[in-house]
Amino acid sequence: MPEPIIKVDGITKSFGSFKVLDGLSMTVMPGEKLALIGPSGSGKTTILRILMTLERIDGGHIQIEGEHLYHMERNGQLMAADEKHLARMRQKIGMVFQLFNLFPHKCVIDNVTLAPMLTKGTPKAAAEKRAMELLDMVGMADKAKNMPAQLSGGQKQRVAIARALALSPRIMLFDEVTSALDPELVEEVLNVMRKLAAETDMTMLLVTHEMGFAHDFADRVLFFDRGRIVEEGKPDEIFRHPKQERTQTFLKKIIAAGHRV
Ligand SMILES: Nc1ncnc2c1ncn2[C@@H]1O[C@H](COP(=O)(O)OP(=O)(O)OP(=O)(O)O)[C@@H](O)[C@H]1O
Ligand SMILES: [Mg+2]
Repeated sequence: MPEPIIKVDGITKSFGSFKVLDGLSMTVMPGEKLALIGPSGSGKTTILRILMTLERIDGGHIQIEGEHLYHMERNGQLMAADEKHLARMRQKIGMVFQLFNLFPHKCVIDNVTLAPMLTKGTPKAAAEKRAMELLDMVGMADKAKNMPAQLSGGQKQRVAIARALALSPRIMLFDEVTSALDPELVEEVLNVMRKLAAETDMTMLLVTHEMGFAHDFADRVLFFDRGRIVEEGKPDEIFRHPKQERTQTFLKKIIAAGHRV
């Protein structure tokens, strides 16, 4: 058996007195495509932000490729990770958010080259060569010199995906990357993600309300409710034959809201 690439073990996270994650555990295998679904406020974004080290945890452990994320070992003892450790671990993971967060004052190609040049010291020429390959992959090579304000929402999201890929992460996190888009722009972004899933062995975690896409894309679906995983299984099991009442209720609501499952 290969080792899990992500191991989340009993993590808790509160904002003030509100417990968002309540002893959450999950294991992700290398190359797995996971869909995270569940009601608003169930903690889906929070777990992705925690994996991306944008939030701290209150308790529990996370390991990425067998290495602790929020802890480091010193003389056989576990202690809280320092910023250097976090920065190194963070490079293993790329994230694309719901709202386009390109640097507005930098053109498309500079958005993609910035992180490799700054964090990895990649020379400009090499960073630009790689950036053009990635922009080509997401169908944005001809817009390399455009400013973000000159792009559609779908185009911005495709650049954001190329930018996240520029650091060659082992794991990609996608948080509702199409939900702020006009309906006619959704498909072009989903196509890029289909291509990534088909052509790379990257591990991908996807939070989405696009149940049809989740069904086609995912190897495994996790249903979140109130900071816990209530049910998980293959897409057909979760979408066609959900066992838990809470999963059934959620899916009924989603279908009633007009989403394809
Ligand atoms: N920085 C924060 N400060 C305080 N509360 C927060 C913060 N971030 C999230 N929360 C709360 O934590 C809960 C979980 O939020 P989270 O964003 O993880 O939910 P979600 O499952 O992604 O929901 P949605 O489907 O609406 O995006 C919510 O009740 C939210 O209000
Ligand atoms: Mg969210």
